[in-house]
Amino acid sequence: MGKILIKNIKGLVQCGEDLPKVRRGGDMKELPILENAFLALEDGIIVEYGSMLEWGGLADWRDLEIIDAEGKYVLPAFCDSHTHTVFAKSREEEFVDRINGLTYEEIALKGGGILNSARRLADMSEVELFDHAMERIQRLKSYGTGALEIKSGYGLSMDAELKMLRVIKRLKAECDIPIRSTFLGAHAFPPEFKDNHRGYIDLIKNEMIPRIADENLADYIDVFCERNYFSVDEMEEILEAGIAIGLKPKVHVNQFSALGGIRKAVELNALSVDHLEELVDDDIEALKGSKTMPTILPSCSHFLSIPFGDARRLIDNDLPVALASDFNPGSTPSGNLGFVWSLACVKMKMTPEEALNALTINAAYAMGLSDTHGTITIGKKTAVILTKEIPNLAYIPYSFGDQLIERIILS
Ligand code: NIG
Ligand code: FE
Repeated sequence: MGKILIKNIKGLVQCGEDLPKVRRGGDMKELPILENAFLALEDGIIVEYGSMLEWGGLADWRDLEIIDAEGKYVLPAFCDSHTHTVFAKSREEEFVDRINGLTYEEIALKGGGILNSARRLADMSEVELFDHAMERIQRLKSYGTGALEIKSGYGLSMDAELKMLRVIKRLKAECDIPIRSTFLGAHAFPPEFKDNHRGYIDLIKNEMIPRIADENLADYIDVFCERNYFSVDEMEEILEAGIAIGLKPKVHVNQFSALGGIRKAVELNALSVDHLEELVDDDIEALKGSKTMPTILPSCSHFLSIPFGDARRLIDNDLPVALASDFNPGSTPSGNLGFVWSLACVKMKMTPEEALNALTINAAYAMGLSDTHGTITIGKKTAVILTKEIPNLAYIPYSFGDQLIERIILS
């Protein structure tokens, strides 16, 4: 903590007062940039910004770190509203299986995929899971992530789901970025409940959810609504049990098939609907006028070679779009949001400005952090990215694979 002054900033991006909580449709192209600017930070809060030409100096220069940002940009840190950062082990053997011709769904049907991660997680201690996740979070921060949502869902038993959620709770307490916790007990049916869906849903509703309420272990509730996973009716029943203890829905829908999960999630006032590789007209209609953030995960599409979410169609229908990583060992082993930015531009035809809105303002909304993150606004938390020297902002998604972030500043 202390004071930081960033001076001579080439462009201070997404800064201003009274910025909207969500940018949608044509407004997603808007991106305020103040040129030749300064930014003052004190005790973890944004206290002042403006043009270098109008700068009156500081009242108190003691204990001040001065950063010269000549040729560099400063932007709000990315918010990653969808990740599975707590997991036991990587799954590169499935990656090789897919190269050799199997699909992600075929691997899952053989007991790989989520069930593979669940088997590995069952044997790992809480301390080891925590240490691995903490290490990953340090890496995500170096890529510019300044707020993180993390899901359970590799437990699939009472003990292992609670273990994951306790790890997330400890990460919340010990990390210097805000973390939101999502209960995803309904990620897959465990093998012992393969032919007894009712039994697993009852376990989630009658045993897991009450314990989560008692120990205050989650902010959100998620369900993987998909063929071979949870049906729309099953999703509804589970989400309602979560809503009853104060968890807001944020759901996996439309990854491989459009089952009507989006309309149901909107009806249940979901904060976000995530994946959306498959979209039908009724999904778009359901989202119109709702408070639910459509969230696309382009690194998952890239890694699984499945369609990219149709961001243009959403935006052209005056809807907002958020982007997230989906960082997990099976479908998205990268949590690099700079790469997501690039994929959104190259594969989804989002402009650099639209994609940055999707990674900041709209992503902050999708994890309930609009009041503290997503823009550079007086009173918001210090969570900003300082870039390296770059010619313009579009250069970041253009130079895919390069690390153009010099540092993330968090206090
Ligand atoms: O969001 N689609 C469901 N869940 C994760 C992947 C889980 C896994 O393969 O481990 C996802 O892509
Ligand atoms: Fe996911």
